[in-house]
Amino acid sequence: MPVSREEIRALVERYPSPPVVATVGSHSALDVADGAATEGFTSVVLAQTGRDATYSRYFRTVRAPDGSRRRGCVDEVWTYPRFAALAAPDSQEHLRARGALLVPNRALSSYVPLDVIENELRVPIVGSRRLLRIEERTERENYYSLLEAAHIPFPRAIAGPAAIDRLAIVKLPHASRRLERGFFTAASPAEYRAKVERLVARGTVAPSDLEAARIEEYVLGPVFNFNYFFSPLVPRAEGLELLGVDERRESNLDGLVRLPAAQQLELSETERIPEYTVVGHGTLTVRESILEEAFQLGERFVDAARAAAPPGILGPFCLQSCIDRDGHLTVFDVAARIGGGTNIHLGLGHPYGNALWRVPMSTGRRVAVELRRALEQGRLSEVVT
Ligand SMILES: Nc1ncnc2c1ncn2[C@@H]1O[C@H](COP(=O)(O)OP(=O)(O)O)[C@@H](O)[C@H]1O
Ligand SMILES: [Mg+2]
Repeated sequence: MPVSREEIRALVERYPSPPVVATVGSHSALDVADGAATEGFTSVVLAQTGRDATYSRYFRTVRAPDGSRRRGCVDEVWTYPRFAALAAPDSQEHLRARGALLVPNRALSSYVPLDVIENELRVPIVGSRRLLRIEERTERENYYSLLEAAHIPFPRAIAGPAAIDRLAIVKLPHASRRLERGFFTAASPAEYRAKVERLVARGTVAPSDLEAARIEEYVLGPVFNFNYFFSPLVPRAEGLELLGVDERRESNLDGLVRLPAAQQLELSETERIPEYTVVGHGTLTVRESILEEAFQLGERFVDAARAAAPPGILGPFCLQSCIDRDGHLTVFDVAARIGGGTNIHLGLGHPYGNALWRVPMSTGRRVAVELRRALEQGRLSEVVT
């Protein structure tokens, strides 16, 4: 049985005051902790032992004798032997006892099984618990169905390797590092077969994953990840905000494109095939005439998500897109939670978020502002699930 909204509402009504802002220690945790600290919350990072130094040592809060923050933004680090242990009954009890409001990120939904998040994790999640699953391309109801319902352009699916008639991207997990990508491109069935052979030999692709792989049209154009925020606390017309736009650095794709053509050709056939492991992010703005379309797609996505899975989007979400030469967006991936690139906002905010809010506004800070407003208005249960 899914954890119900009524249950969470009853829980937050009895919550300690003030609550603390907690997030899983990876992905976008620094942005969330920094934002929470800026807005006067206690920030808690739920970390895995051995992967906690960034939070417990390097960004740990150090206070002056008068209690003011001298450095750092991570007020508390709670460590677990494995991330998944944070959902164990006694850890949940501790989270509730401290009034933890859990900001979900991809680390939460990757390391804690989705079934556990949906059915057992009785801790308020800031955002939509139900929508975390739509990211899984292997689910029957996934983000493609939402994009379709929202009339948002997305890459055309290609039925199978034999149907590849143009440049296509094949999406499947990495053979050994299961949370990473084993993506590759192919423009014909013959190229598909040749690449599979090389990538299986290199250990990037497992043959057993090919069956369920998503094959789709490759969209030629730069990648723009739109980091939006939707607030249910204000009138619908003011609900959608665009806080920032990021792009990724992917290894070793970006390494390859930095090589001059002559040097690329010196690589072996296998070395020339890029991998798509995200290793960093950069900040972008878009041509101003494109912004309106970005807002329209964001609005449609909010409406479609609400209709398909009420209450829909609450807080941050990210549409990952390519922009073609006519300036139109094609959305190839969606995060119905904080995106992976919002650390570009750390400390500075982003031109769009700042222009809107008139102060440095990161996604992490925006989440904290939402929580503060909800608390002030007695509406906390409207922003958590
Ligand atoms: N249809 C596409 N056309 C062109 N590039 C794509 C397409 N789909 C994905 N990519 C590239 O692959 C990267 C990862 O794809 P994405 O669908 O976001 O995977 P994940 O779900 O693992 O985040 C993107 O950042 C982009 O560079
Ligand atoms: Mg993605």
